Amino acid sequence: MILQGKNAIITGARRGIGRATVEAFASYGANVWACARKADPAFEMDMKAVADKYGVSVWPVYFDVTNETEMKTAVNSIRKLKISIDILVNVAGIADDSTSFQMTSLEKIKHVMAVNFFAVSLLTQYISRLMARQRFGSIINIASIAGLDGAPAQYEYAASKGAIISGTKNLARELASYNVRVNAVAPGMIATDMGNQIDEELKKNILSKVIMNRLGKPEEVADVIAFLASDLSRYMTGQIIRVDGGM
Ligand SMILES: NC(=O)c1ccc[n+]([C@@H]2O[C@H](COP(=O)([O-])OP(=O)(O)OC[C@H]3O[C@@H](n4cnc5c(N)ncnc54)[C@H](OP(=O)(O)O)[C@@H]3O)[C@@H](O)[C@H]2O)c1
Repeated sequence: MILQGKNAIITGARRGIGRATVEAFASYGANVWACARKADPAFEMDMKAVADKYGVSVWPVYFDVTNETEMKTAVNSIRKLKISIDILVNVAGIADDSTSFQMTSLEKIKHVMAVNFFAVSLLTQYISRLMARQRFGSIINIASIAGLDGAPAQYEYAASKGAIISGTKNLARELASYNVRVNAVAPGMIATDMGNQIDEELKKNILSKVIMNRLGKPEEVADVIAFLASDLSRYMTGQIIRVDGGM
């Protein structure tokens, strides 16, 4: 129960790595604000089932991460509860389809940056202010091996994750004096909707470099996020942890 009694905000909670993180956190004893883009009865039922299974609270919260007004309203609704926010996990992200750099429009680059970097920056700003005031917190960003190593035909995605990596290292330095830690995981190829949308040829190519010779599971990323969120990693900040089956 490494997260017993902690309260965590997790974005991208409806599916993939975000959904797995909600379940992992609940199983380790955390209460979760599960953030999804839109209100959805199936999501509400799913979150209630997770809460009942582990005996914790899972509160659905709705906002599109690129909509500043919606995000502000959601943050205010969380803040008004006057419960400590121990953990923020920025999972929501997009990859977009692969296009050669020379054919990638500026609009597409801006769109991917808006979701993967600007939205993460704004939410982190709101929540880190509250964490700084309470003098504790752990923030975990989801980067990607693309942000560390590059990825063919994914210029804007790799750049957005590169920005997350620099931002993580930078904020770790800025927030350490408030006892707020900032780390990131850099997943390799994970079996989610996003992972499965990768072109078959590219997938084969990436897999040939994975020592464990298989795709990762969202739960395997979620467990590393839980470790970084917990006090088990209390002397770690500014780190980017690869979760890629060995490459
Ligand atoms: N899968 C991989 O191989 C892999 C590898 C490295 C890094 N990552 C990173 O891991 C994170 C999660 O990816 P995943 O594989 O779990 O992808 P996924 O299955 O496609 O899920 C993406 C999640 O982000 C949410 N989202 C996207 N745009 C949003 C917006 N504008 N507002 C609110 N929510 C939004 C989606 O919400 P909806 O359900 O409403 O669409 C969904 O819950 C991403 O940051 C991704 O870049 C994934």
